[in-house]
Order: sequence, then structure tokens, then C-alpha cells
Amino acid sequence: MLQTNLCGIRLRNPTVLASGILGVTKESINRIGMEGAGAVTLKSLCHEERQGNPNPVMFGYGGVFMNAVGLPGQGIDNAIADFKRLDDASVPVIGSIYGYRISQFGEVAKKMASLKPAMIEVDISCPHMDYGKPYYADAELAGKITREVKQNAGKIQVSIKLSPNVYDIKEIAHSAESNGADAITAINAASGMVIDIDARKPVLANRIGGVTGLALKPIAVRCVYEIYETVKIPIIGTGGVTYGKDAIEMTMAGATGVGIGTAIFYRGTGVFKKVCDEMEGWMRKNKVKSLEEIRGCAHR
Ligand SMILES: Cc1cc2nc3c(=O)[nH]c(=O)nc-3n(C[C@H](O)[C@H](O)[C@H](O)COP(=O)(O)O)c2cc1C
Repeated sequence: MLQTNLCGIRLRNPTVLASGILGVTKESINRIGMEGAGAVTLKSLCHEERQGNPNPVMFGYGGVFMNAVGLPGQGIDNAIADFKRLDDASVPVIGSIYGYRISQFGEVAKKMASLKPAMIEVDISCPHMDYGKPYYADAELAGKITREVKQNAGKIQVSIKLSPNVYDIKEIAHSAESNGADAITAINAASGMVIDIDARKPVLANRIGGVTGLALKPIAVRCVYEIYETVKIPIIGTGGVTYGKDAIEMTMAGATGVGIGTAIFYRGTGVFKKVCDEMEGWMRKNKVKSLEEIRGCAHR
């Protein structure tokens, strides 16, 4: 009922562990696979080891979840030594990469490709780079990065992960597609701030952070909807998916895969199975036999 074909990668269901939440070791990949995820995305890796930002880096209250972890990570060379290969995991693995300069995106993609992931996801929403304008907000730069990664990824499918913090997400998606992207992941966190009124200062040490979880969902659904109208390649709809109904909503906006990250903080690692059961329940009740029947139906 939930089987999904994502760029030729066969998933038992559309749920995908979003980057940055647990996908850091072979054990955590296999654990999330056992918990029922259709695919697992690794924490984003770049050319070097990074410490990330000082604490506090996370905040959750009600439907609002914020983080400013600052992309801590072991770096691609250490990851290669640790993982050795990714095609023997219990579930398809998506390797997430980024760089500071465009050439580094290519170098890291080449190294990631050597691990044989099912797909490479390109986090162009990284705030740490030496360009005046962030890559995710510039269609031409997003296109250049896409080409650079495609040239270094061999036969591995490439998804470009977009940010909602832009004037027109459609033009960025279009540039990624026309430069060879095989898929789009939408979206990364939205920029935000929470102020502690007793302390009279922002809660996060970094002051500004990324809003994820339920508060992000309407923004993510709108982005997926707009991207679906613009490109033909599949979309991994990510942002706030917590319950089966959210995954159905993403599918109706046009998503093929459905990313899940912050919901793990609220529903545990069993969230993948729970979301799938809830999706199937809704489908049975509404006499929907496959996800193709409802994919993009909100556009009609
Ligand atoms: C703690 C945390 C760390 C994250 N790290 C990354 C990362 O390394 N790379 C990336 O592309 N996205 C990262 N994200 C963004 C998620 O992959 C996802 O796009 C976002 O959280 C929206 O989905 P969600 O509402 O299901 O969490 C991170 C999110 C959180 C909450």
C-alpha cells in the first residue's frame, strides 16, 4: 500500500529519517531501519570535522522546536573510516553533504559516493560559507553546486535540499532541476528566534535558530506545493510531519518521500511505524489503494 519509488530507489514506505537527527552511526541507521523508516538520511558531513555552536543549541516548547546546533560532525574522511560502506545497511541510506566553497561540495560528494549510498542529499542551506549571499537563496549558485555534485557523484542520484528562507523557492528548485538534480528535498529549518522574557535575551546561545517540527509544517506544505508546480523530479517533503495525516497532506501537496525529524523528539523512534499505520488507516477509510492516487491531488 505504501511502497514508493523514489528516483528508482524502492522504498517500502515513503518515510525518510531527516538529516541531523540520529543518522550518525551504522547502529543508528540500522535501528531506524528496524523502527520502520523507508530510508535514512545521514547527518550532513563536510570536508572537515566541526564542533558546532556553544550551548544551549536546542529548545522545544509546545509546537515550537528550535535548534542552532551549527552542523557539528565528524567530517567525511572519518565517516568513510567508520561506515566503510552504506549499501549493506538494513534500509536505503541517503548521504547528506555540504561544503563551504563550491569545489568542496564536489570533493565531499565524490568521497560520499565511494560509500555507495542510495542517494546523495546536498544541504545548500549551510550558514557557514565564505560567499556574501547564501547558496540556498541564489538560483545561479544553487545550479552551480548541483552541477558540481552531479559531476562527482557518478551514477548516484542527487537531491538538493532547499531552504524556506527565500523570496521564491520555485526559481531555486527550477535551477537545481535544470542543472541535473534528480530530486528536491524541501525544506530545511526556517530562521527564527525565541526570547526568554525573564532573562531578557534569546534562549539559544546563537540567538537565531532554525524552526522545525509542527510549527514548520504549513510552510513546508506550501513549499512542496510550489515546487511540485515547477519541477518534474520527485520531492522529499520534509517539515513538521508528526502524524499520518501530515504525511498524507505532504503527499497531496506533491511529495514522493516524506521526511521526519523533529517528531522523534515527541513520538520516539517508533514514529515511522506509527505514521505508516496512521497513513494506512486513513487510506483504508478513504478507499485509497496507493499513494499515486493522491499524490499532488491538491493541485487539481
Ligand atoms: C537538531 C537538528 C539538526 C539538524 N541537522 C541537519 C543537518 O545536519 N543537515 C540538514 O540538511 N538538515 C538538518 N536539520 C533539518 C532537518 O533535516 C529537517 O529539514 C527539518 O528539521 C524539518 O523537518 P522536521 O520538522 O521533521 O524536523 C536538522 C534539524 C534538527 C532539528
